Amino acid sequence: MKAGQVYREATLKNGKKVLLRSLKWDDIDNILRFINELVEERNADPDFGLIHNRQLTREQEVEWVAKRLVDIENGNVVDIVAEYNGMIMGHADVTHGSLSDIEHRGLFGLSVAKEWRDLGLGAELINETIKQCKKLGMTVIELEVLKVNKRAIHLYTKMGFREIGSVPKGVYRNGRYYDELIMAVEL
Ligand SMILES: CC(C)(COP(=O)(O)OP(=O)(O)OC[C@H]1O[C@@H](n2cnc3c(N)ncnc32)[C@H](O)[C@@H]1OP(=O)(O)O)[C@@H](O)C(=O)NCCC(=O)NCCS
Repeated sequence: MKAGQVYREATLKNGKKVLLRSLKWDDIDNILRFINELVEERNADPDFGLIHNRQLTREQEVEWVAKRLVDIENGNVVDIVAEYNGMIMGHADVTHGSLSDIEHRGLFGLSVAKEWRDLGLGAELINETIKQCKKLGMTVIELEVLKVNKRAIHLYTKMGFREIGSVPKGVYRNGRYYDELIMAVEL
C-alpha cells in the first residue's frame, strides 16, 4: 500500500463525487479539523460513537499521521479518506492483528462528517476498505459499536457484518454505562 494512493471516485446519493484514497502527509490539517469536529459532536451528544473526548492538537496529529504513514507503507493498516474539493469528509481504517496468529483479523473504524451522512458514503468506504483488506490477506474484520448507534448498526448489517457478541456496560461515559455490540464479517 502507498500513502496517498487513489483508489476510485464514488458517486453519492446526492450526485456528488468524492475521491477515495489513502491518507497522505498533506492531510494533517484537514484530518485534524475532521476529527475535532467529531470530538465536538461527541461532547454534545452522549450517545455518539467512540472517539476522543478532548480536541487533538496539531502536534498530536502530526505524530499520529507520521506513524500512520509508516503503517500504511508496511501494510499494517488500511487507512482510507473520502475527499471532496480538497476537504476530508469521511475516514475508514482497519488495523490488523500484531501477532502472526491473528494477522488475518482486522479491527475496523469508520466516521463520516455530519453534513455528509445518509448519502451512502459510509457504504462506499466500507466497500473500498474491504477490497483493500483482501489485498493485504485479511479474512475477518471486526468492530465494536454502541448498541444505541442504530444508523451504524443498520449500515454494518447491510454491508454483511453480523453480531457475534456483546459487552454489557462496555462503555462508561458521563456517569452512564452503554452496552456495546461486537460485529464481524468474513471476507
Ligand atoms: C455511522 C456512520 C459512519 C454512517 O455513515 P453514513 O455515510 O451516514 O452511512 P450511509 O449513508 O452509507 O448509510 C447510513 C444508513 O443508515 C440509515 N439510517 C440513518 N439513520 C438511521 C437510524 N436512526 N436507524 C437505522 N438506520 C438509519 C440510512 O437510511 C442509511 O441506510 P440506507 O442506505 O440503507 O438507506 C456515520 O453516521 C457517522 O460517522 N456517525 C458518527 C460516528 C460513528 O458513529 N461511527 C461509527 C462508530 S462504530
